[in-house]
Amino acid sequence: MRMWFKIIIFAYGFLVESGYADELDTCSLAAKGSPHFPANFSFGVATAAFQIEGGWNEDGKGPSVWDDFVHDHPQLIDDRTNGDVAVDSYHRFDQDLAALKELKVNFYRFSISWARIFPTGDVSSKNQKGIDYYNEIIDKLIANGIQPMVTMFHYDLPAEVQKNGGFLNSKIINQFASYAKELYKLFGDRVKTWVTLNQPLLYCRSSYGYGFYPPQYLNAGVDDYICMENSLKAHAVAYHTYRTQFYKKQRGKIGMAILSKFFYSKTNEQDAIELGLQFALGFQAHPLFAKSGGYPEVVASNIAKNSLKEGFNKTRLPMFDEKWRKLIKGSADFLGLNYYTSAFITRAKDKSKVLKPSWENDRDCDESVDPNWKIAKSPWLLCVPQGLEGLLKYIRDEYNNVEVIILENGWSDEENVEDNGRISFIKSHLQAILNAINDGCNVTGYTYWSLIDAFEWVRGFTTRFGLFSVDLSSENKKRSPRKSAGFYRNVIETKMIPDKI
Ligand code: NOJ
Repeated sequence: MRMWFKIIIFAYGFLVESGYADELDTCSLAAKGSPHFPANFSFGVATAAFQIEGGWNEDGKGPSVWDDFVHDHPQLIDDRTNGDVAVDSYHRFDQDLAALKELKVNFYRFSISWARIFPTGDVSSKNQKGIDYYNEIIDKLIANGIQPMVTMFHYDLPAEVQKNGGFLNSKIINQFASYAKELYKLFGDRVKTWVTLNQPLLYCRSSYGYGFYPPQYLNAGVDDYICMENSLKAHAVAYHTYRTQFYKKQRGKIGMAILSKFFYSKTNEQDAIELGLQFALGFQAHPLFAKSGGYPEVVASNIAKNSLKEGFNKTRLPMFDEKWRKLIKGSADFLGLNYYTSAFITRAKDKSKVLKPSWENDRDCDESVDPNWKIAKSPWLLCVPQGLEGLLKYIRDEYNNVEVIILENGWSDEENVEDNGRISFIKSHLQAILNAINDGCNVTGYTYWSLIDAFEWVRGFTTRFGLFSVDLSSENKKRSPRKSAGFYRNVIETKMIPDKI
């Protein structure tokens, strides 16, 4: 018995050494073409204010919807943690900076807490201490050769703005644009890459459709679509404000972060693949980047068809009039892509259990996964690097090879240091990007999510994405590099994916 065991171990070791094991590992991808990233390709890491800052009511900050939500419903957070202290980046940016320097990243994507600098959300309610905090971050990054990339809105809407309906009230369009304008005035001399909104389809569905996120509305297929309408309009006005009033002097670029999977079909159902892509990527990207602008044809027609069937007298999807369609079209300098995973898709078989109305029912498809795909600590996250390559090629063909910056891509696991799973994930996804670039895709940057362990919304700290772990029980919230931090630094230094890890 023992002997057999030794032989198996030896054989496995041989496979790993010789590289054959990679072929067995579904979280890997074969190289096609040049092993070098282009000279102007940049590498970064990301975080978001509510997930790391803490200091939730300090120095004049106003409450956000997430502050209220975690206080009112602690039981809805898996480990009952919250954002009151989080990993205390409000007091510990220098520790984050040390981590950024250790990685040698080219840029740092972080978000500004709207309510920290404008406590009521209205720009008349300026809070200088909050502004000082972000000025310090930006100045220190630049002093260390790290470009700041700023997300304006990453879920933490000022509570006061929500009182008026948040993204369901069209007032948000000008409110957000005024906030954006103040950001350009305050920080635009130094910030050259802006991300307006983070994953609008996800927060619209989670906040207004299914009640997972604050304000916990349950009006799927209606309010989530109104939220999308106002989000895209708010984005476009913020964009044009920059182009007409600031661009000449500041010369920066603006995009939006779009979350999407790629889709496969075992039965070669091309219509299901198309529905999958248009209801995710297309819902957000088509209005901005497609020649015709507006929502994708299949999205608009499926929703219109179902609405009538359900007894509505018109479509539940608010359609952009000509003026808005034109204003939104072209309102981004790059496509910000958040890519985590992919799925198999078929046309829906059993519709009896699907919520109606809803985005799912409008999409009219079922998803599944390949049991061989490697799964992260987060149950929704399977390693499918070929999906990223596929999605990038789809974007190249569908949207006239627009510039793409990967704004998020990451892997969750336990609190370990030897995070080989994360390394395989990053390695294979970088390979996907390189393969896409070698095939003509216009990808210019990659952002790993996240720099440090962060509050993962309703999952609390049970799933961790950081290149640096955070010891939550230590007094100084100690950040320690995981093995993947060294791996990523090596990629950044060499602009190549190392053979061995
Ligand atoms: C996307 C979100 O932008 C971010 O807040 C979240 O932590 C990661 N995905 C991981 O789920």
